Amino acid sequence: MSWAYLNNAFHRKEEVTISPYDRGFLFGDGVYEVIPSYAGKPFLYEKHVSRLLRSLNEVSINKPEQWENLKSIIEDLLEKNKFSNQIIYIQVTRGQESTRSHAPDKLTSPTLFIESSELTTDLLLTSYKPPYINVGIEEDLRWTRCDIKAITLLGNVMTLDNLSDSGLEEVIFYRDSTITEGAKANIFLVFGKKIVTPPVSNNILSGITRNYFINLLSQNNFNIEEREVSINEIEEADEIWFTSSGKVLQMVHKINNKIILEKGFKNTIGHKAIELFRQDILV
Ligand code: PDD
Repeated sequence: MSWAYLNNAFHRKEEVTISPYDRGFLFGDGVYEVIPSYAGKPFLYEKHVSRLLRSLNEVSINKPEQWENLKSIIEDLLEKNKFSNQIIYIQVTRGQESTRSHAPDKLTSPTLFIESSELTTDLLLTSYKPPYINVGIEEDLRWTRCDIKAITLLGNVMTLDNLSDSGLEEVIFYRDSTITEGAKANIFLVFGKKIVTPPVSNNILSGITRNYFINLLSQNNFNIEEREVSINEIEEADEIWFTSSGKVLQMVHKINNKIILEKGFKNTIGHKAIELFRQDILV
């Protein structure tokens, strides 16, 4: 049996319900976080909660009344759902109102929804190899506040839906010829020994995994730079990775079904990055 939390109570997942008058349902008026938990411990928890708070502030949604107890609610949920590795989803919407009205009532109480499910990962195995994925390239059709982790994800969903028909799992988005990120992850490119990732801006999410890898790699003397990357540079890249809380690091194998990376995985900087990550979470 799996559990979810809504407002003030735990419910069996199949029994949890919400009103269609919730502004999350009517307007996509809400923000969210996704936090991985390894061996019962949420990974980089404080960073995720600070980003959630930032998202709430940016869209002027009040902190949910359960805010001070968030950590203990999550710990209870992890215990109830039992799996040793889990992926935690937290969503806060502006809340439920009596009629559909674009401009919100400032007194509406936010809705807090939290759920977790098993994180199936081989990351803890010494033989771990990150997935190789096949990706597309598309113009970024999303709004210009991608720094807010908003639940309104239609641009991401439409792109992934179109690409999945060709067997593609992620996308390299670009805006004005400059690479932004993926539809569900941040992007890194490797040129020789240099690792490059687009700088934080309103056009990308400041990924917790991205920021973690930037620190981890620079502490280990890798040459890493945050700079704008032109879409034309893709052809020169030796490796391209996507990073996110759920998948950690995925390596691009093919772009639009054209092979770009045929190196054995062991020789890549991406492999070294994932090994450093494994050492960090296993301690
Ligand atoms: N997605 N950019 C986008 C558009 C994302 O949706 C995500 C994560 C990231 C990576 O952020 P982080 O490293 O903090 O997970 C970047 C999550 C996992 C999701 O929507 O399920």
